Amino acid sequence: MNIVVFGGAGFLGSHVCDKLSEVGHSVTIFDIRESPYKRDNQEMIVGDILDAESIRLAIKGKDIVFNFAGIADIEEAKTKPLDTVRYNVLANVMILDECRLANVSRFVYASTVYVYSKVGGFYRASKQASELYIENYLEQYNLDYTILRYGSLYGPRSDEKNGIYRFIKQALTEGEIHYYGTENALREYIHVEDAARLSVEILKPKYKNQHIVITGTEMLKVSQLFQMLREITNKDFNIFYETSNDHPHYEMVPYSYMPKVGMKLVNPYHVDLGQGLIQVVETVDHEHSNK
Ligand SMILES: NC(=O)c1ccc[n+]([C@@H]2O[C@H](COP(=O)([O-])OP(=O)(O)OC[C@H]3O[C@@H](n4cnc5c(N)ncnc54)[C@H](O)[C@@H]3O)[C@@H](O)[C@H]2O)c1
Repeated sequence: MNIVVFGGAGFLGSHVCDKLSEVGHSVTIFDIRESPYKRDNQEMIVGDILDAESIRLAIKGKDIVFNFAGIADIEEAKTKPLDTVRYNVLANVMILDECRLANVSRFVYASTVYVYSKVGGFYRASKQASELYIENYLEQYNLDYTILRYGSLYGPRSDEKNGIYRFIKQALTEGEIHYYGTENALREYIHVEDAARLSVEILKPKYKNQHIVITGTEMLKVSQLFQMLREITNKDFNIFYETSNDHPHYEMVPYSYMPKVGMKLVNPYHVDLGQGLIQVVETVDHEHSNK
């Protein structure tokens, strides 16, 4: 199928583009920056998701449209409420509208497990608004969708915006980790390549018009994660658990009351957390030693 991935140069989007190409789809990456991960058999369009003409041209002739573009960082969204509406809500509706005009057969959206939680601020608000617009495009215009609610991702191509990358960088370069939350906070980390594989799996007809939760398979206390990092790095770094109203984080589950419950999709096989962490440790170590 012909597929365009908005935000396809990013952390998650680039892995999804890889997996789409690997199973034989024709992939066009649309992003504000050139993708360093673009493959020879992929097309690249450099453009802004707020530019109606560019998105119209990118969507023309496509069967499936993925939207991974916009502000992906909760912290950034916290200080940029207007940009968060522009890039995460308005641009998403502009893309939806072009999808219905072009008779696209499915729109796939990157939401978050935070979507109906009490934390996540403007970021969460933008994801909730976008989910509602997507659901209404089905009702009003019969535009089919799949909403993917991702949990805590980690793995290759991540940067400072990513939790695990930051922890490892702090541990290796500063000898300590500052974590906003308690040591008992539970997380289900998922390797980005596993998440990307599932993001392609959902193109099957049975996932049409569904909300799909993509998180890890095992619950882990953050204190256990830090212990794993100590063993992997062979460094006895200090950990400071801090609480701050500026960094509210969930303890056990990110959800509160949820009007639209998502189905959790899991890989029958997946990257082992320890192995995945080693990949990120190697990357951070390499970047640091090249400075
Ligand atoms: N990474 C996670 O842990 C996670 C978890 C839940 C949901 N998500 C969602 O998944 C999506 C992708 O996240 P990510 O971690 O890959 O983030 P990312 O920042 O790496 O990717 C976003 C991409 O969008 C592009 N972009 C930004 N503004 C643009 C514009 N105006 N026009 C065109 N392109 C633009 C960026 O250049 C970037 O390549 C986001 O919607 C995010 O909210 C991510």
